[in-house]
Amino acid sequence: MSFLKEIEPITSAAAADLAAATDLAALEKARIQYLGTNGEFTALLKQLGRLSKEERPEAGKVINRAKADLESALVSRREELELAASLPKEPTDFTLPGRRRSIGKLHPLTQVTEEIVRSFRKIGFAVADGPEVEDDYHCFDALNTPPDHPARDSQDTFFLRSTAVPSNAQQLTCGADRTGNPLLLRTHTSSVQIRVMEKQPPPVRIIVPGRVYRRDNADATHNPTFHQVEGLYVDRNVTVGDLKGTVEFVFKELMGPETKIRFRPHYFSYTEPSFEIDFASSLTRKMGKDWLEIAGCGMVHPQVFEKVGYDPEVWTGWAFGFGIERIAMIRYGINDIRLFYENDLRFLGQF
Ligand code: DAH
Repeated sequence: MSFLKEIEPITSAAAADLAAATDLAALEKARIQYLGTNGEFTALLKQLGRLSKEERPEAGKVINRAKADLESALVSRREELELAASLPKEPTDFTLPGRRRSIGKLHPLTQVTEEIVRSFRKIGFAVADGPEVEDDYHCFDALNTPPDHPARDSQDTFFLRSTAVPSNAQQLTCGADRTGNPLLLRTHTSSVQIRVMEKQPPPVRIIVPGRVYRRDNADATHNPTFHQVEGLYVDRNVTVGDLKGTVEFVFKELMGPETKIRFRPHYFSYTEPSFEIDFASSLTRKMGKDWLEIAGCGMVHPQVFEKVGYDPEVWTGWAFGFGIERIAMIRYGINDIRLFYENDLRFLGQF
């Protein structure tokens, strides 16, 4: 019978062409040629209907087995060719160096801050924190800074706009605190002295690293936001000698063991007496200077103790504040403060 005889040669030709396809396009061409709607094998299938009742079962069995064989040959050849297409064209060289993933680093300001904190921890200071959005009571009044002080001028401080008629407490804190104090971005970390003393009885031994804000135009040495470290020590019989010894210890740790410091009389409204601190080291000499001003400090003013409810007849203390950027700039010889904020990896990668 001629039909059964036709199946064998077409099936083996189809199987040979599928196996011989060397890429997916050739395989698809072979599939269309035999198994497509107008393909040679499909044509055989179509003839099945025309066979007599007696011939049909046997022919159907043979042709369906052949069809299943061809389809599975197609699938497995396609898998082989897909795998081959996804492999690299060139042989892999396992001796090549691996791809390095660069590891992140702490920002230089974070590194310097952590070092400062570490030095103070050695001598028993705890780290305290306070809000960057502050009210003018904690930033100025409680620090004995009078209403006409230049720091309180809108030219120097970012005041937050008061909301007209606040409808709820949440809104109220947008422009003024609950007692009507104007809100502002803190100009120094000294406000945290007040927040801490309001909350805890003496003795106090804290440092406060944090961000501060001033209405400065950015240039090589100024930026509207920068960072400070505040220090506060309150106990009985605290002296300027304790202050000087502490500052000397920390600056030797930060700037090298041959560092010298000196105090110059100055004025701050929240300390009396007040001083500016200069230091001298190989770093200042490298900058062509004998002494460089680095911090402000003094003995806590009795008025400040009164405001927080500490008895100034019993308690004594000192405070200081300095800029973290300034320390980092001197240590690393950085000549432009703006480099810290640009997030240029070529700069940041050097620390
Ligand atoms: N708050 C001062 C400033 O921002 C720094 C300062 C000076 C802090 C004297 C103090 C201090 O605690 O006693 O420039």
